[in-house]
Amino acid sequence: MINIAVFASGTGSNYEAIMRFFKDNPHPDIRIALVVCDRSKAKVVHKAFKWQTPTVLVNAGRFETKVDYEKYILTKLKQYEIGFIALAGYMRLIGSTILDEYRGKIINLHPSLLPAFPGIDAVGKALDAGVCLTGVTVHFVDQGMDTGPIIAQQAVVVDEHDTHESLSEKIHTVEHQLYPRILQACALGEIYVNNNRVYGREKIREI
Ligand code: GAR
Repeated sequence: MINIAVFASGTGSNYEAIMRFFKDNPHPDIRIALVVCDRSKAKVVHKAFKWQTPTVLVNAGRFETKVDYEKYILTKLKQYEIGFIALAGYMRLIGSTILDEYRGKIINLHPSLLPAFPGIDAVGKALDAGVCLTGVTVHFVDQGMDTGPIIAQQAVVVDEHDTHESLSEKIHTVEHQLYPRILQACALGEIYVNNNRVYGREKIREI
């Protein structure tokens, strides 16, 4: 059994998409075993309650250092026998404490075609830049901000009349389709990273 933890800081629509995917396509070897959330008011907490996923709510401000914060999370990951981590709107950099234990076992979702527009508000940055095409990236996590070997990318057209809201909605729709199936393939080891290269199947490119 591969126990997966979803790390989230916000709405949790991708967490919910993951839950729906595995409800509709149950896999005997995969379980979403834990949600880790760093914001007490995040909507993902209510979603996790509804789906009955055990949730660890951590207040980073209560720890003296990032290392202590991550060591605490690590004890929870061990307790729930977590083998794989999916970041879904987790707005913190993963530090070496967690990374060293889960190297090659953490993936992230980002609302742009990386390496364009890393960091917060990638949708706003794409609109400000006036690009015609943006999209969604899934990548393995390294120590950088939205860096790490790319696993899958899917493009989203920016229409002339798109607002932040309409473009975010289009991006979320793509994310909800793409992320759960990539997560499944990565958690099962069908897609893996070695020496910064992604192996196992051809990179997923969708337009
Ligand atoms: C998603 O769009 C995800 O790509 C983004 O946060 C959103 C979370 O939405 N992640 C990043 O920007 C990471 N740098 P959700 O809470 O509704 O799943």
